[in-house]
Amino acid sequence: MGRNLTEQSITAAVQQTFDTATSERFRALFVNLVQHLHDFARETRLTGDEWFTAMGFIEELGKASRPTRQEVVLLSDILGLSMLLDIINQPGGTSATDSALLGPFYVEGRPEAANGADISHGLTGTPMFVTGRVIDEQGSPVAGARVDTWHSDGGGFYDVQQTETLHGELAMRALLSSDDNGQFWYRSITPRYYPVPTDGPCGQIMRAANRSEMRPQHVHFWIRAEGYQPLITQLFLRDDPYIDCDAVFAAQDSLQADFVRHGPGTAPDGTTVDEPFVTLEWAFTLAADTDR
Ligand code: BEZ
Ligand code: FE
Repeated sequence: MGRNLTEQSITAAVQQTFDTATSERFRALFVNLVQHLHDFARETRLTGDEWFTAMGFIEELGKASRPTRQEVVLLSDILGLSMLLDIINQPGGTSATDSALLGPFYVEGRPEAANGADISHGLTGTPMFVTGRVIDEQGSPVAGARVDTWHSDGGGFYDVQQTETLHGELAMRALLSSDDNGQFWYRSITPRYYPVPTDGPCGQIMRAANRSEMRPQHVHFWIRAEGYQPLITQLFLRDDPYIDCDAVFAAQDSLQADFVRHGPGTAPDGTTVDEPFVTLEWAFTLAADTDR
């Protein structure tokens, strides 16, 4: 390590300290991180005051974070890093359905539901009938797939954000299984666009950037089946006002769906609905485990 460090030579001096790392992957990640961090500081001519502000921000991120409020994850999301990793790690060269962020509203202890069940837990809203088909890349049905689904209500709120009215009860989420035709179906209420949390440090960034904090209307799915790679994804309302400015960059074209509006009448499950309702249909293609 030289004594006459320059703006350029300090980078190699730091990188060399990782030469004896116990893991090659760890070494490679940090050598690269140091390179990019130093280049960032050199290129932007970062001032001490600016870095001090940034470090205070990182401290605030930590303080704001708790199991039900993942502010660090949110930063990764609003900077597009979470979606970039989804894209990088997507099985290449397959026709599998694109993945999209898990998001912070997935809950482990969700109830199981039979196909056809109403998973709204009695909440009011425009009825929504979801019919999914799980298929492989050859178009054959995947039976017995475990399908997690969850979404917000018509005000843009998830059950876990409504603890006062729901008293911890879960709603608008369930674990279903695909039948022999690869199909699963359920009834719920129609979700709506909503803002990502803005009352923490990430909100400051979005306000300073003067950018939208909204997520277009969507329904989440996490599909797992033996012999296939798991699929975590979301389906978005194609004509949502925020479809082109998703705060977390997940609403790609391939995941935009028609949430078809119907007048009162017969729903896909054969029941009569005496108010307007919405239907959502989608085929989810899973990549075989061997493709990776
Ligand atoms: C969601 O899809 O539920 C979500 C994802 C990232 C940030 C906030 C919400
Ligand atoms: Fe969501």
